[in-house]
Amino acid sequence: MTIPSLPDGMTRAPSLSGPHQGYMPGFGNDFETEALPGALPQGMNSPQKCNYGLYGEQLSGTAFTAPSHQNERTWCYRIRPSVKHTHRFRKIAVPHWKSAPDIHPDIVSLGQYRWDPVSVPAGEDLTWITGMRTMVTAGDVNTQTGMASHMYLVNASMQDEYFFSADGELLVVPQEGRLRFCTELGVIELEPKEIAILPRGLVYRVEVLEGPARGFVCENYGQKFQLPGRGPIGANCMANRRDFKTPVAAFEDREVPSKVTVKWCGQFHVTEIGHSPLDVVAWHGNYAPCKYDLRTYCPVGAVLFDHPDPSIFTVLTAPSGIEGTANIDFVLFRERWMVAENTFRPPWYHKNVMSELMGNIYGVYDAKPKGFIPGGMSLHNCMLPHGPDRNAFEHASNEPMVPVRQSDTMSFMFETRFPQHLTEWAAKAGHLQEDYIDCWGSLEKKFDGTPGMK
Ligand code: FE2
Repeated sequence: MTIPSLPDGMTRAPSLSGPHQGYMPGFGNDFETEALPGALPQGMNSPQKCNYGLYGEQLSGTAFTAPSHQNERTWCYRIRPSVKHTHRFRKIAVPHWKSAPDIHPDIVSLGQYRWDPVSVPAGEDLTWITGMRTMVTAGDVNTQTGMASHMYLVNASMQDEYFFSADGELLVVPQEGRLRFCTELGVIELEPKEIAILPRGLVYRVEVLEGPARGFVCENYGQKFQLPGRGPIGANCMANRRDFKTPVAAFEDREVPSKVTVKWCGQFHVTEIGHSPLDVVAWHGNYAPCKYDLRTYCPVGAVLFDHPDPSIFTVLTAPSGIEGTANIDFVLFRERWMVAENTFRPPWYHKNVMSELMGNIYGVYDAKPKGFIPGGMSLHNCMLPHGPDRNAFEHASNEPMVPVRQSDTMSFMFETRFPQHLTEWAAKAGHLQEDYIDCWGSLEKKFDGTPGMK
């Protein structure tokens, strides 16, 4: 891992040694970091006066009274308190970033859908805010249930412009290009095969390091993402805590006219201030952004016959309040060996109470060798049957039962307990594949009443 580059004028905490330069390893740890020596109070959170003339401020990511094993908050020591980083608000239109419920009477969300990748439009500056294109919404942003899924199409850095969402955390899955997230709590660089989690309420600016940049975002209105319980798998494999990286403190002391955009209850608001809000010199706590390299995900699967439900590939899960039924699961289908004997190896045909939105990061997905293209997406909504297309079925039904390495493949799923509703952009944009449903059309009836393998 390389140390993330810094914008001019930003000061960062000294790097840790070894592979952790610029980041601290762990998931949900109680981190502490300071960009100036002695900026972090020791032994207490709220001294009468903070060193360097900093203001102490708590950022609460859960209710004060959340159970201690779920309670998340971070203490920030900053040049100005956050109340100086907003002023009066005015509403603005961000027409393509939708929030649930976004249900249109003339759009049919009941169906199996697939989309081609969309190019980042040339000749138009698209930032993290204006380049967000919502595909589906589920649940209700006002009751903090459900989610929305977006594609981002970004070719322009935010200039003296900052953003935070009060509506949910964002899970970012890049597919092309490199971005730098300059956040209140530190700097994250992100590229394809990595993901990042940006907590609700965190202020940040997004810069394009290598563009154009395209990827997927899951906006989680509900409880925060956490690591799934491994059950009998034990203490290792799947996503391991040490592979998550949280940035060390970094701040800038910059007094220029600046704009903060806030997403709140599905609406966008702008406020004007005279300085950068990225002014946290030191912080400690467990509510912070992080990144994770998907190549460190250790898949577990069948070693003799059949295969487990796809939940075996869960990277992160956001609970819904109903035990075992996620508001969102983030599931990864990556390179792995297929070794099961006498087994139909691809994902089987099924219907699911959960709604499944998939995206292809790179390569070929085994159940859909054609048509599900890197940068593309598919949706199999609540109780809509789906499974391998004819080619995949015929291949898997006749392939020799030898170990096969599934190479050159990385796809993911945002799976939610709520039905997913297509936005107008998803339903009417030219990249919707009208013929997707036909991929199952040529599946033959093999049954003729006589016994034997057909
Ligand atoms: Fe499925």
